[in-house]
Amino acid sequence: MALISAASKRLEGKVALITGGASGLGRKTAEVFAYHGAKVVIADLQDDLGHSVCQSIAASYSTSQNDVTYIHCDVTNESQIKAAVDKAISTYGKLDIMFNNAGICDEPNPKIMNSKLSDFERVLRVDVTGVYLGIKHAANAMISAKTGGSIISTASVASCVGGLATHAYTTAKHAVVGLTKSTAAELGQFGIRVNCVSPSGVATPLATEFCMVNDEEFEDMFIKAGNLKNVVLKAEDIANAALFLASDEGRCVSGVNLVVDGGFTAVNHSFQLYRYPDDDTQA
Ligand SMILES: NC(=O)c1ccc[n+]([C@@H]2O[C@H](COP(=O)([O-])OP(=O)(O)OC[C@H]3O[C@@H](n4cnc5c(N)ncnc54)[C@H](O)[C@@H]3O)[C@@H](O)[C@H]2O)c1
Repeated sequence: MALISAASKRLEGKVALITGGASGLGRKTAEVFAYHGAKVVIADLQDDLGHSVCQSIAASYSTSQNDVTYIHCDVTNESQIKAAVDKAISTYGKLDIMFNNAGICDEPNPKIMNSKLSDFERVLRVDVTGVYLGIKHAANAMISAKTGGSIISTASVASCVGGLATHAYTTAKHAVVGLTKSTAAELGQFGIRVNCVSPSGVATPLATEFCMVNDEEFEDMFIKAGNLKNVVLKAEDIANAALFLASDEGRCVSGVNLVVDGGFTAVNHSFQLYRYPDDDTQA
């Protein structure tokens, strides 16, 4: 490959499977991947929405109806994850990119003392076991085909710091980073790269419902808390990070947690001495 890519379609000829692709970050990534020439399988629980997203992508990005497909898939169910991987291969001949993006969070702010084991296990089942199953079956397909590939998972800034989300969610997202590094170590020999992306706050149904605010209020909260001024994190920013990791431009990147947060986790917000919120040189 050319080291400087002039390709406007950065995923031409590639096949991607995206879990949680019917909504939010997964949906936007499906749009961006399709725009860049990938054939896309969307796997989700929301069947009506998933089918309508496929139609909308085909209509908006001049993609053939046949180039984007939906499959019902609960990521916690091993046979359904395997069926989704098989669907990509039977429909498009191979699997180059696996995006383990489906995720949930539990009720806001359960204190450890009165939190429920069932809630903790439910979050870990989707956010960790679902990612594990996705990596396992994608790797299996990529190794059999001897094609290499790129496996990406959605972690979170809750993978780097505590106090931003629930105990279950924070635990789960830390685990995604561990699983990413562990499987990157094993799968490099097969030309398979494994990475994750960690967003801070993007106004999606999951995020706004968790914070119990509307989209505007949610974005306002993150503008105020953020380091990079006047930048609102959008689903496109996460989709573009996934695009980099999925494409040949990311060919030397593996085992990485790509944090996309406008510097949010680079700053210790509880320590004021080196904060310059009202820097008068900017006036
Ligand atoms: N939005 C944010 O601010 C933010 C920040 C950090 C990380 N994340 C992560 O991004 C990912 C996507 O979330 P989002 O914000 O786009 O939320 P979203 O609610 O818009 O989308 C999540 C999708 O996952 C699907 N899903 C849930 N459980 C599933 C299961 N068991 N099997 C298959 N699909 C399932 C849902 O149906 C939904 O379509 C999640 O992993 C989330 O933890 C989001």
